[in-house]
Amino acid sequence: MSEIITGLRPRLAQPWPAGAGPFAGQVAIVTGSESGIGRETARALCAAGAAVVLNGRNAERLEHTRQSFADAGLTVVSCVADVTDYASCERLVAAAIQAFGRLDVLITNASISQRAYFADMQPEVFQRVFDSNVYGSVYPLKAALPHLIRTRGSVTFISSISALNGMPSGSAYCAGKAALSNLAHTLRLELDHTGVHFGVVHIGFTQNDADKRVLDAAGQPVLIAHRPPRWQKTQAGVAAIILRHIRRRRKRTVISVLGKLIVLLHTFFPRLGDWIVLTTTRRLRHFYE
Ligand SMILES: NC(=O)c1ccc[n+]([C@@H]2O[C@H](COP(=O)([O-])OP(=O)(O)OC[C@H]3O[C@@H](n4cnc5c(N)ncnc54)[C@H](OP(=O)(O)O)[C@@H]3O)[C@@H](O)[C@H]2O)c1
Repeated sequence: MSEIITGLRPRLAQPWPAGAGPFAGQVAIVTGSESGIGRETARALCAAGAAVVLNGRNAERLEHTRQSFADAGLTVVSCVADVTDYASCERLVAAAIQAFGRLDVLITNASISQRAYFADMQPEVFQRVFDSNVYGSVYPLKAALPHLIRTRGSVTFISSISALNGMPSGSAYCAGKAALSNLAHTLRLELDHTGVHFGVVHIGFTQNDADKRVLDAAGQPVLIAHRPPRWQKTQAGVAAIILRHIRRRRKRTVISVLGKLIVLLHTFFPRLGDWIVLTTTRRLRHFYE
C-alpha cells in the first residue's frame, strides 16, 4: 500500500500554534482515527492542546476527516497507513516527527472486529481480525518506541470489555484484545526504567458510525450485532475517559458498569459469569449475532 501524508506544512515553525489544555505542546498518533472512537479521541486530544496525526487505510475518508479537523482550526496531519504493515508504521511515525518534531502519545485504536463463530470462520478471516488487533498495535509501537522513550511518553492500547472474559462470536477479536493486556504488562516490566506509560482501556458498548462494518465468517463486511442503545456510551464520552486514563497514566481502565461487572464475576465468581453468558447466548442470540 502506498502511504500518503497530508496536511504537512513546509518548514513548520516550532512550536506549532500552541493550544491550551492538559496536552498542550504534546504530539499524538491515534491509529484508525478516520472514523468512530478514534476520530473523537483525536478531536478531544486536539481540544486539550495536542497536535495529532490521524490515520486510516482509506485515503478519501481520511482526508475528509483531516479537512474537517483543519476547518475547525485543529492542529492535525494525516497519514494513510495500514498498521498491520511494519514499513507503513515506520512512515506513520516519521510523519509525526516530520510534522511536529516529537511524539508523546500513541493510541493504538485501529481494529477489525467480527461477527462469526469460530467453527464457521475461514482461517484467513481469523488471521485478519487477530492481526489487526495484535500486530496493528505491536507495529506502531515498535516504530514509535524510541521517540516515546525520549519524551517519557504514553502508550494506550484500545481493548474491549469482551476481552476480559471472552465472548461467543468474537474469538479472534477477544484473543487479540486479550493479548494486548499481557503485552502492556510485560512492557511495563521490561521498560520500567524508561518512564514510558503503558496502559489498556477496555471499552464497552459504544455508539457506532452508521457505516461501521465487522467481518462475518467468510470475511464479508456486515453490520455489527444489535446492542441496546441505552447501554451504549457516546464516542465523545469514551474519548474523554481515554484522555483521563492517559493523563493519570493508568495501567487499566474498564469502561461501563457492564465492564466492571465482568471483572467482578471473572475474578470472584467465574462459574456464575460463564453461566450468565451461556444463558444469554441461548436466550438473546441477536446480542451476539
Ligand atoms: N464501538 C464499540 O462498541 C467498541 C467496543 C469495544 C471496543 N471498541 C474498540 O474501540 C476501537 C474503535 O472502535 P470503533 O467502534 O470506533 O471502530 P471503527 O469505527 O470501525 O473504527 C476503526 C478504525 O480503524 C481503521 N482500521 C482498521 N484496520 C486498520 C488498519 N489495519 N490500519 C489502519 N486503520 C485501520 C478503520 O478504517 P478502515 O477499516 O476503513 O481502514 C476505522 O477507521 C477499536 O479498537 C475497537 O475494538 C469499540
